[in-house]
Amino acid sequence: LIHLLSTEGLSKDILTHILDTAQGFVSVNDREVKKVPLLRGKSVFNLFFENSTRTRTTFDIAATRLSADVYTLDIARSSASKGESLLDTIANLSAMAADIFVVRHSESGAPYLIAQHVAPHVHVVNAGDGRHAHPTQALLDMYTIRHYKKDFSNLTVAIVGDVLHSRVARSDIHALTTLGCAEVRVVGPKTLVPADMAQMGVRVFNNLEEGIKGCDVVIMLRLQNERMSGALLPSSQEYFESFGLTPEKLQLAKPDAIVMHPGPINRGVEIDSAVVDGQQSVILPQVTFGIAVRMAVMSIVAGNEA
Ligand code: CP
Repeated sequence: LIHLLSTEGLSKDILTHILDTAQGFVSVNDREVKKVPLLRGKSVFNLFFENSTRTRTTFDIAATRLSADVYTLDIARSSASKGESLLDTIANLSAMAADIFVVRHSESGAPYLIAQHVAPHVHVVNAGDGRHAHPTQALLDMYTIRHYKKDFSNLTVAIVGDVLHSRVARSDIHALTTLGCAEVRVVGPKTLVPADMAQMGVRVFNNLEEGIKGCDVVIMLRLQNERMSGALLPSSQEYFESFGLTPEKLQLAKPDAIVMHPGPINRGVEIDSAVVDGQQSVILPQVTFGIAVRMAVMSIVAGNEA
């Protein structure tokens, strides 16, 4: 694996190897991650052309725990604002001896463009591109599911909400189907479920109650208003009434079902506060697992595994 751009096309062996490598970094209480020297002397450049809290910070922590030198470019204050192109920005940062670029961009395909232009020893990790892919989020989601449910082969997983604009949904679907998940469902209003879902091997539900019935895992997605035109924008109140996950509706899933969410959460829109903070929520453990998973990805692409 030279770059990590998508979960699409990754084999079950590679996905499992990344999850196992991540697990190897976790030493205490299934949570704590010790500092290791695997990327000592390497430079990791975090380039977030789109805002982020979780991904950017956990990549920063992960690179630091691998003993890399970490540089997070302040894009708003960079010369991109003076018209410097993406590839010229990359060329100049490469001249500062970058080894790994972690890239988030609102344009689908931006990390692919960068990967085509960097030197062979430089690695690109996609931290979310447009509505296309968010592979490290999918990997930390797989890590979380495996942590709580052990085996994918008997699981029914529902992905609920604005699937149309979600790079997380697409990356999760590719990873879940490759890992042998028994049933993947997408649940949402017709206007927010893309037409190609059946071809991706998932069952489509336009009713929340039917969609989460008997599920082992419920992955909630926020409405990505920043990617919607006016015609698609539902009112928050109407959306919550039909597709908001409440404690009552969650009872339709299995009693031991876990609730996940990539964040950021919009409480009272796609999910009730009582579910976010409830016993079945593993939303914050997902964030914690993201550190070990991103350590695994960077150490594997750089060829310096534990
Ligand atoms: N899940 C996720 O990508 O969150 P951020 O946008 O805060 O990074």
